[in-house]
Amino acid sequence: MPSTKKITAATVRADFNDPVAVVHYARAAHFMGLWASERVLIERHFTDQSAPLLEAGCGAGRATLGLWDAGYHNLTAFDFAEELIDQARSLATERGAAPIRFLHADATALEKCHVIRDTSFGGALFLFNGLMQIPGRKNRRAALGELHRVCAPGAPLLFTTHDREQTQVERALWRLEALRWERGEQDPRLLEFGDRYFEEVGTGRTFMHLPDRTEILADLAATGWTHTFDALRKTVAAESRAVRDFSDECRFWVAHKN
Ligand SMILES: C[S@@+](CC[C@H](N)C(=O)[O-])C[C@H]1O[C@@H](n2cnc3c(N)ncnc32)[C@H](O)[C@@H]1O
Repeated sequence: MPSTKKITAATVRADFNDPVAVVHYARAAHFMGLWASERVLIERHFTDQSAPLLEAGCGAGRATLGLWDAGYHNLTAFDFAEELIDQARSLATERGAAPIRFLHADATALEKCHVIRDTSFGGALFLFNGLMQIPGRKNRRAALGELHRVCAPGAPLLFTTHDREQTQVERALWRLEALRWERGEQDPRLLEFGDRYFEEVGTGRTFMHLPDRTEILADLAATGWTHTFDALRKTVAAESRAVRDFSDECRFWVAHKN
């Protein structure tokens, strides 16, 4: 009988520590680096290359090593999946980027990590939808609040989400999903409308919350961030086939600490 147990942070962490996911994200860290769109927005909003930056949900270090190669050398990156952090550390050593601080930490409880707690960061990033892989809106708000707390006034935050309302087909599918929720016929493992839990060959199991725009704007405002920009990735830069195969279209968000 299929499981009806609700997805928790422990489910997500176990899915990212799974060897299938570890190989997937380690390969991206070795061969992909920053997406063209990430590079554009990072250069635009993170103008001080010497400022201490914090990358949440860094995985095996795909974007972290890309930031290092782009000249950002005061980097602290963390993830709650130990296997991915191990991969990131060994890749950084191999690439001469050992000064990057790769830490094991949970975005919803940064006070437990003294290195992060005791630094005032000049900017934060939570790339490739990592924030949306935190189950439960109150927990995603907790993560936004924690990032706000450890950032200096004026610091930028860059993150991405999938967009529930992006295409007509998606809007129709979500209307069907809304009917399932009304009837109580949704996947019982999901916590909130907008959640998905699926498995793909070569990637493993993925939990993802797909928000609408109102939700993100409200969550930023509730956690002290001022929304300054959002746009679909395709309007920021054209991506290679490899990037489009690795990740579907997404929306970039930029906010600044009040
Ligand atoms: C889609 S992966 C992206 C990894 C990497 N940033 C990249 O682009 O290849 C999302 C990452 O967020 C991490 N993550 C999810 N929830 C987290 C949390 N509460 N604290 C820390 N990391 C978390 C996952 O372990 C995973 O490595």
